Amino acid sequence: MVNLGVLVSGSGSNLQAIIDNIEAGRLDAQIKIVISNIPDVYALDRAKKHGIPLMVIPHKGFKREEYDQKMVEALKANKVELVILAGFMRIITPVLLRAFPMKVMNIHPALLPAFPGTHVWQMEVDSGVKFAGCTVHFVDEGTDTGPIIIQAVVPVYDDDTADTLNARILKQEHKIFSQAIQLYAEGRLEIKGRRVLAKGFPKTPDSFMINPPARIFER
Ligand code: GRF
Repeated sequence: MVNLGVLVSGSGSNLQAIIDNIEAGRLDAQIKIVISNIPDVYALDRAKKHGIPLMVIPHKGFKREEYDQKMVEALKANKVELVILAGFMRIITPVLLRAFPMKVMNIHPALLPAFPGTHVWQMEVDSGVKFAGCTVHFVDEGTDTGPIIIQAVVPVYDDDTADTLNARILKQEHKIFSQAIQLYAEGRLEIKGRRVLAKGFPKTPDSFMINPPARIFER
């Protein structure tokens, strides 16, 4: 059982997916505390509804490092082992990372290292890529640069907008974030340099996706 601290800034649909997987017995974790930097976000209502302790720690007036120190104190006081950034719209400093080394996970709505940063869906559509997706990674001192744990791939269609692509990616985020946490809980993740190895999975070397779908060259 892994003790989670979930940091949020918005709607909290990823938080909800984690709560649902825990309540369904699919995820061997408990959420010790949900912390938001913004009051009145919907993620806090979700936590309240499920009886999960919550805190608002507003960031205004604090230097990033000071803010992260407050965050570390709250996380440690609640016996958090793994910190989950579920739509937390703040840059994390080494103050938090040193207190939780390779124990901070983030979800990003793109196939990193492509498309780091914010508001990536329009960039994905405009770039003409045929596949997009999402990534769960350990957080390091860069922006969206930490070791990759798991990725999910979705097709990009000709009539996609940022919103339709976001919705397709978000569905997969809700699966892979819990899966990454469960792999951690089972002790199956091994970090080797930039690589995160997930032990005990069969290989599927013939699996593939083609977009637009392959037709005439099938054999
Ligand atoms: C998601 O798009 C996630 O990839 C990004 O922030 C958003 C969070 O959405 N990091 P929600 O608050 O979990 O609904």
